[in-house]
Amino acid sequence: MFRGNKRVSLCLFIVFLLCISVPVGCVGKPESNEKPELLLGFSQLGSESAWRIGNTRDIEEQAENYGISLMLENANQKQENQIDAIRRFIAYQVDVIAFSPIVEEGWDNVLLEAKNAGIPVILVDRDISSENEDLTTCLIGADFYKEGVMAAEYLIRKADALGLENVNIVEITGTENSTPMRQRQAGFADTIKDDERMCILESIDGDFLKSRGAEVMRTLLEKYGDDIDVIFSHNDEMTLGALPEIEKTGRKPGKDVIIISIDGGQEAIDVLKEGKINCVVECTPRLGRELMETALKLKAGEKVDSVIHPKEVFFSDEEDVSKIPARGY
Ligand code: AHR
Repeated sequence: MFRGNKRVSLCLFIVFLLCISVPVGCVGKPESNEKPELLLGFSQLGSESAWRIGNTRDIEEQAENYGISLMLENANQKQENQIDAIRRFIAYQVDVIAFSPIVEEGWDNVLLEAKNAGIPVILVDRDISSENEDLTTCLIGADFYKEGVMAAEYLIRKADALGLENVNIVEITGTENSTPMRQRQAGFADTIKDDERMCILESIDGDFLKSRGAEVMRTLLEKYGDDIDVIFSHNDEMTLGALPEIEKTGRKPGKDVIIISIDGGQEAIDVLKEGKINCVVECTPRLGRELMETALKLKAGEKVDSVIHPKEVFFSDEEDVSKIPARGY
């Protein structure tokens, strides 16, 4: 009797040990070996702006909505960190790689490694420059050239409305060699080039950062002072950095100086409502849904569109800005 009880206890102990070593209901494979339906590796370039933070949040939320497992890495504004992250995704054998390239050049080697590993790559937000078009499958992001065109078209209408004869512009540009910097600049310049009133005094790199926006604005004010009629800033963050610097000189942004910004984040829209910004061109950070849909199609071996641009608008003092709904970023 006593010996029998001992045997039962031993059996129960062994069953207990088996159960705690196999987490899923004592049967099946251990969780760590189970592959999720789709594993997406995404390298975000950094957290330089409200736009970028909104973009990261949107991608995380949409991955959850679509039941996609996301390996997210933040490169903190360094291209080498993005390259390392892509290599880790390859080593981990993710199903699809996505990344927002901080600059356009310098990706060929790592993308060739992804291609050789048979992992499709999606570009999110920004483009790359490469001779080899096979390295990526598609680009999901804004039409930055059109954003520059919209900014310039607004300025031409504003100059007409105010009857301006000479318009001196300073341009605060985004990160050098990045797609939004190059294309916003080109769209703006191409649109004003035949308008003889327009003159770009200087284009200066503000790296999409608020602190740099303030710094370069101080430099521009020291150099050109009251000659500046217009600030064309490539993102809200730099605009928000520049505005207090203009106010310190006694001039009123939005009245004495025309302010044109890009992104359309909540803070800039609030300042537009106060009358200190004249026009904000929208650049939506909500790219997550398209990214998840595209990743699923690629995993299923389906064809995808090579460029997907979201629809974007602009907000300006030509309309009743008090009605602009909450932006969410
Ligand atoms: O690439 C999109 C740009 O990057 C946004 O305009 C800017 O705010 C961000 O940092």
